[in-house]
Amino acid sequence: MSQSPVSRPGVHGLIFDEPVLFDLGSPGRTGYSLPASPLPEVDPSSVLPAGEVRGPIDHLPELTELDVVRHFTRLSQWNFSIDGNFYPLGSCTMKYNPKLNEDMARIPGLAQHHPYVPDELSQGCLQLMYELQDYLKEISGMDAVSLQPAAGAHGEMTGMLVIQACLNARGETRHKVLMPDSAHGTNPASSALCGYDVIQIPSDAEGQIDMAQLRQLMDEDTAAIMLTNPNTLGMFEKNILEITEIVHSKGGLVYCDGANLNALTGVCKVGDTGVDVLHFNLHKTFSTPHGGGGPGAGPVGVKDFLKPYLPVPHIELVDGKYICNYDQPESIGKVKTFFGNFGVLVRAYTYIRTLGPDGIRKACEAAVLNANYIKARLKDDYHLPYPGPSLHECVFNDKQQLKHGVKTLDIAKMLIDYGFHPPTVYFPLIVKGALMVEPTESESKDTIDQFIAAMKTIAKEAETHPEKFHDAPYLPKVSRPDEAQAARQPVLRWKSIK
Ligand SMILES: Cc1ncc(COP(=O)(O)O)c(C=O)c1O
Repeated sequence: MSQSPVSRPGVHGLIFDEPVLFDLGSPGRTGYSLPASPLPEVDPSSVLPAGEVRGPIDHLPELTELDVVRHFTRLSQWNFSIDGNFYPLGSCTMKYNPKLNEDMARIPGLAQHHPYVPDELSQGCLQLMYELQDYLKEISGMDAVSLQPAAGAHGEMTGMLVIQACLNARGETRHKVLMPDSAHGTNPASSALCGYDVIQIPSDAEGQIDMAQLRQLMDEDTAAIMLTNPNTLGMFEKNILEITEIVHSKGGLVYCDGANLNALTGVCKVGDTGVDVLHFNLHKTFSTPHGGGGPGAGPVGVKDFLKPYLPVPHIELVDGKYICNYDQPESIGKVKTFFGNFGVLVRAYTYIRTLGPDGIRKACEAAVLNANYIKARLKDDYHLPYPGPSLHECVFNDKQQLKHGVKTLDIAKMLIDYGFHPPTVYFPLIVKGALMVEPTESESKDTIDQFIAAMKTIAKEAETHPEKFHDAPYLPKVSRPDEAQAARQPVLRWKSIK
């Protein structure tokens, strides 16, 4: 048996010590049983050219099927998942993914439909995508939607390419994109990928875009502003109408990162606030799996004047038939094969159809209520750097705990021992030691109360036993991996020590 990476006598933690497969098994075990071959055995070197015959592979594990199944099942039980527990990761909207979504995505006619099947024989799939476009338009107030991008960041890049294509068509070459300093890292990355210089706008003392700075920075060389609403502090940009007016008055366009749409669905249409381009993160707002970086979906919505630049094909309804329209000479082209990640679209479609307009609004209201409940209950225990009104998430920091030498990372790590996934930490970057909590609408008051109780106990312990925090968490298999080293020098290959 290999040793657990962290050995703490007296602490039981998770239940198994699990070696790698190479350290399991014993000689002669197999995962199959086949009848004896009626053919004579042939020495490969007598029939294959020299150099083409592989020698024996040392230390290849010899295992039964059950060995392998149990190994992977045990490993899967170490995973933290939204199906297992509360996952209050701010900005990531880790809401529950209803199983009905999964059932629908597995319907053979949807799951096995080949994307090369002609339109006439793909009416069901095309209808689903057409209707999903319509629902997203209705929810957001945008005029046209492309479902093709495969993630939020991919949607951002697609949206910025659309803006660029529009400005090029106007004969304008602009070089800059304005962005609040609270922006998610993918925003500057997407703009830079499209060749723009990113100009930061500071946030004011209330956590809003500094309007004086915006007025000063916005000029005729600026292609767009890329903002998030509600912003990454969970606060609605209350000057949004004035912001969009300032940007438009200089010929620029307004891009809204829709990652936080869970705070607005059914209540406020982003399109009504003067936004020209918006991306949706279906895996946040519309309950599709996040899935370790993909496959996801980050559809892009635009106002009418930008529709010609959207990726092809446009899915349209013409004379009662759904068609893929490739005849879009001004389109930026394709950003993903076929229609994007269709299975994800089916799940989002199911979620929207299941909830309906009233349910969508209620989900949003519950998400905002849950976040504000947590904020109100924890505001005396953790510092609120921006105490103004917030929506679906709240951002605390470690100011009070730092007096005792306990940092945000320590708090997050300790929370693991209470059975909760830590909130998002150290983001947004404008908050020193940020702890960003987003409960979503999925959670019951019972669960939220348990989380609050854990956070309160942790705040007390930080005062009374700060030394306990430096080695937390005590229960999981791996306590404090060196994340920088893991990223810079990943050890991905097993080597025999025998
Ligand atoms: C505010 C914001 N914008 C953009 C993104 C990027 O979305 P994705 O992870 O789907 O690429 C995220 C992801 O966490 C986000 O929180």
